[in-house]
Amino acid sequence: MSRQIKNVVLAGATGALGSHILTGLVSHGGFNLTILTRNAAGTLPVGATAKVVDFSSVTALAAALQGQDAVVDAISSPDPSVSMRLIDAAVTAGVYRYIAPEFSGDPKNDKGRALPVFGGKKQIYEHLQKVASEDRITWTAISNGAFLDWCLRTGFVNIDLFNKKVALMNDGSHVFPWTTLPAVGTAVCNALTQAEKTKNQTLFIYSVQKSQKDILAIAKDALGAENWETQSQDMEAALEEAMIAVKSGDYSWKVMGDLIRYSISTPGYSGRLEQDNNDLLGVRPMSDEQVKTLIQQIFDELKTAKK
Ligand SMILES: NC(=O)c1ccc[n+]([C@@H]2O[C@H](COP(=O)([O-])OP(=O)(O)OC[C@H]3O[C@@H](n4cnc5c(N)ncnc54)[C@H](OP(=O)(O)O)[C@@H]3O)[C@@H](O)[C@H]2O)c1
Repeated sequence: MSRQIKNVVLAGATGALGSHILTGLVSHGGFNLTILTRNAAGTLPVGATAKVVDFSSVTALAAALQGQDAVVDAISSPDPSVSMRLIDAAVTAGVYRYIAPEFSGDPKNDKGRALPVFGGKKQIYEHLQKVASEDRITWTAISNGAFLDWCLRTGFVNIDLFNKKVALMNDGSHVFPWTTLPAVGTAVCNALTQAEKTKNQTLFIYSVQKSQKDILAIAKDALGAENWETQSQDMEAALEEAMIAVKSGDYSWKVMGDLIRYSISTPGYSGRLEQDNNDLLGVRPMSDEQVKTLIQQIFDELKTAKK
């Protein structure tokens, strides 16, 4: 009989992604949900228990994970040892499934993984593969491309909706997957409810598969085509500059961002998915009309926040 996952721990619940995974897990209603946090938690939704734990101690983490079936790792830390300790603690506590802190491109894309910005993910992923190969835990990774809503809110993919400013990555025509945060939350939930089908696999999802230019065209439709300021960024030059910066010890948001933007805008590093796991994980592709509505909503949020 396949393993049923009931007791679930979420780490990183306060984050941009973790908060959506939390919503997905709570609304599912079938999990006993515990949040691991390094600080005393603020308001928690009904249905989740919070445990404050010392993330620097495998012993403390393992104690907190006793009796758990699964750990969802939505931590984002520049220090990969945080997640590696959590994996070790999960193994010590006999946790069955670990959801890897991936949530980006394909972990098996060697070109992408060679970029310094993905060095931490690479170490964590390899550590998880090692303990899983010794049958000490099972794992699932979710590859979602760029976060669609998050990227549009933050301007991360060089589309600044509020100021109508765009920097095309090269000519902006490279197509890659994008997924909304709520859709990733749903996918995590459905990965846990189908433990056998999602065992020891990377699962690929998307809300849309589009280029930066395609998203820009929808943004123009949503917000009006006039007064957009468009530049372009040579991504090979951006890569070169970022690598020089890294060599001098600069791991700033701009430098790391350019490396990620390079990976999502460059053939061989990312691209249209030939196969996906949307059906398995309950992710529905969005129509252009739905993306337009999302852009209008985000623009309204940004307008309210600026007031
Ligand atoms: N595909 C994309 O477009 C995209 C974009 C962004 C992120 N991501 C990925 O999504 C995942 C989550 O990122 P996010 O943007 O949601 O991160 P975030 O908003 O920065 O949240 C980070 C979370 O990690 C926790 N955390 C950080 N350092 C920690 C530590 N040392 N010990 C314990 N907890 C720690 C934080 O807890 P506190 O509340 O205690 O600080 C917070 O809950 C990551 O794997 C990231 O790489 C993907």
